[in-house]
Amino acid sequence: MNYEELTAAISPANPWRDKIQYYSTITSTNDVLKQMAAQGAPHGTVLIADQQTGGRGRLGRTFLSPPNVGIYLSALLRPACHPTELMHLTCAVAAAMCNAIEASAGFRPQIKWTNDLVFRKRKLAGILTELALRQDGTVDYAVIGIGINCCQKEEDFPTEIRGIAGSLEMVSSHPVDRSRVAAAMVMALENMDALLLTQKEKIMEQYRQDCITIGQQVQVVKGDTMRFGKAVDVDEEGALLVDFGTGIPEPVNSGEVSVRGMYGYV
Ligand code: BTN
Repeated sequence: MNYEELTAAISPANPWRDKIQYYSTITSTNDVLKQMAAQGAPHGTVLIADQQTGGRGRLGRTFLSPPNVGIYLSALLRPACHPTELMHLTCAVAAAMCNAIEASAGFRPQIKWTNDLVFRKRKLAGILTELALRQDGTVDYAVIGIGINCCQKEEDFPTEIRGIAGSLEMVSSHPVDRSRVAAAMVMALENMDALLLTQKEKIMEQYRQDCITIGQQVQVVKGDTMRFGKAVDVDEEGALLVDFGTGIPEPVNSGEVSVRGMYGYV
């Protein structure tokens, strides 16, 4: 990846462009950005790294972040609102990342609820959003972290995730320029941020169109318990509505559970 190429692809009028920081290696863009946020970093600060030594995923998992093949990006938002107004944030980020990949890699991925980007049953990218609140309960900041597999070949993935992980290059038939994808990500996030609190319905409509989980039979895993049902919709808050056989869909929230298709990861 190349910082000059990356910023050259973003209009100078873009308010986030001059707040991009590039690292060849970092522990975790989310962790470093959270420290910067605590010290007052402004809305729109973006960290992009070529490699993470301590990349983190959802539900306490690690996120493999090898050098030169992926994009590890975090962006800082400081929306003036209550956390209840940001329930759709990860959905908004996922839809924005579909836009970014479509614009820069030439195909539109789908979303496995809540926020994995997939294509032909393989995970291409993951999203980890983290919120910090002020003492009065309003949002101090949100850190949005996105990791995208760009240039890996099948054999580059560890055996335990081979078959379920994929990269943009494995899907698209031509080489993928990581600087171009990273620039598209920044532009899509800035655009998403501008609409986040005013265009919630439109954002969720796009999310539902991209989400492949809707209509699927799913396994809902929470701790030691597993339930089977049919995902029928995603509500305005981003919860998956699952019919467990009662005919009355129940909301399932992403912080608590992992959802799988009946026959594997998707
Ligand atoms: C997941 O799939 O569980 C979410 C993965 C999120 C990974 C990104 S990479 C950039 C940012 N920094 C991190 O440590 N995690 C996120």
